[in-house]
Amino acid sequence: MVKICCIGAGYVGGPSMAVMALKCPSIEVAVVDVSRPRIDAWNSDRLPVLEPGLDAVVRECRGRNLSFSADVDRHVADADIVFVSVNTPTKARGLGAGRAADLAYWESAARVVAEASRPGRSKIVVEKSAVPVRTAEAMERILLAHGGGGGAAFQVLSNPEFFAEGTAVRDLLCPDRVLIGGPDTDAGRAAARALRDVYANWVPEDRIVATDLCSAEISKLTANALLAQRVSSVNAISALCEAIGADVSDVARAVGGDGRVGGAFLNAGVGFGGPNLQKDVLQLAYACECHGLAEAAEYWRQVVAVNEYQKGRFVRRVVASMFGTVAGKKVAVLGFAFKEGVADSRESPAADVCRGLLGDRAHVSVYDPAVGEKQIRRDTAAPAAKERQVRVARDAYEAAEGAHGLCVLTEWDEFRTLDYRRIFDGMRRPAFVFDSRGVVDVGKLREIGFVVYSVGKPLDPWLKGLPAGA
Ligand SMILES: NC(=O)c1ccc[n+]([C@@H]2O[C@H](COP(=O)([O-])OP(=O)(O)OC[C@H]3O[C@@H](n4cnc5c(N)ncnc54)[C@H](O)[C@@H]3O)[C@@H](O)[C@H]2O)c1
Repeated sequence: MVKICCIGAGYVGGPSMAVMALKCPSIEVAVVDVSRPRIDAWNSDRLPVLEPGLDAVVRECRGRNLSFSADVDRHVADADIVFVSVNTPTKARGLGAGRAADLAYWESAARVVAEASRPGRSKIVVEKSAVPVRTAEAMERILLAHGGGGGAAFQVLSNPEFFAEGTAVRDLLCPDRVLIGGPDTDAGRAAARALRDVYANWVPEDRIVATDLCSAEISKLTANALLAQRVSSVNAISALCEAIGADVSDVARAVGGDGRVGGAFLNAGVGFGGPNLQKDVLQLAYACECHGLAEAAEYWRQVVAVNEYQKGRFVRRVVASMFGTVAGKKVAVLGFAFKEGVADSRESPAADVCRGLLGDRAHVSVYDPAVGEKQIRRDTAAPAAKERQVRVARDAYEAAEGAHGLCVLTEWDEFRTLDYRRIFDGMRRPAFVFDSRGVVDVGKLREIGFVVYSVGKPLDPWLKGLPAGA
């Protein structure tokens, strides 16, 4: 029986290994993590990751051929294939701070693999994390430095994960493609074949793409950079649409209908968020910088700069509309997750918008169907803001009660069908709605009496002449 171990029981490690166990009943899959609370949560009825369909998959496999454990060394030692799926955040300090990937977790995982390996036993080590180019080579060096004398043999492959949070199980069950990068040697090709055989249990052969290591690594960063670039492109157009009175959703529909452009990822909004897009664009820019490609690096940095601009522009629009000040005013915030369907608020634009409003001394009352109060408080903590400036509400109506303005910051479906008449009745006058996600029916809300701003749409007469950059 093939034994698989995955280091890192996070958003990627947990779901991807659960689906692998489901589809490969003859393979034993152990997911390990240094965080005991994470492992306990995976072994409980309240999984640490909210993904449609995940509970059912875990319930079916856990205790059969899927286990979650904090005994990292033992499971790594036993495994034939070790996936490394640890976090690779942007470096906070030191060389490359704010641009390069922090590989501390990844390096500690590499060392665990090296130390837990036994002489004479070969292992395939698979990078699943998004990592800088040539990380696989560095991994090989660490492994060889430890195992060289003992005879343990390693083959390092790159197999980046492409699923989107919120549709992880669906994407994993039916991936657009699985990418396997490996060295062009006999042993490398054999290792890539072994991994291909695992995926072939449920992924059609023509969707399993083989490349060299470096191309696989750069493909992951490039995929996220292109997605981020599309969001920034349409957001830059949204600013122009507001200035000239065009409607960005009509523009997106018109250009997206062109098969060469395609319609995906063309929704204007308050900017991209989540744990990956920004960090991967910055990593790509840093890779360019390290290779002396200053113009290419600058090009990718602009994608992040436009994202920051869009978040700031939204906050300035809110403040400028409400007579240039939100000090002491209650602003309801609907939605805190970085996207609909997840409980994840990492790098959520909602947190930036809240911090911006708090900086202008607003009182924000946040409601999100999935993100918990503790997380919202952690993410909104702003240096000059007082704790009482942030309230966490149980529903949208409570959040909006007595508010001067209401911001929609995540595209949760339930915000489309709220009783906006009831919300209007409970709000102060004039009652403002600022929709960053194209969720509300602008016409209907204006009929009720709201002053409505919707990103990239023709401006409400009330807002005309108020510069967004005020
Ligand atoms: N979240 C996504 O949607 C997504 C999608 C595709 C790829 N990725 C990439 O996958 C990687 C993992 O992302 P994530 O969202 O799962 O991160 P995460 O923070 O949710 O999980 C990482 C886990 O690794 C554990 N860990 C760190 N070092 C360890 C060690 N030495 N030994 C054992 N456990 C260790 C941490 O405790 C944590 O639980 C990142 O590189 C990310 O860019 C993420």
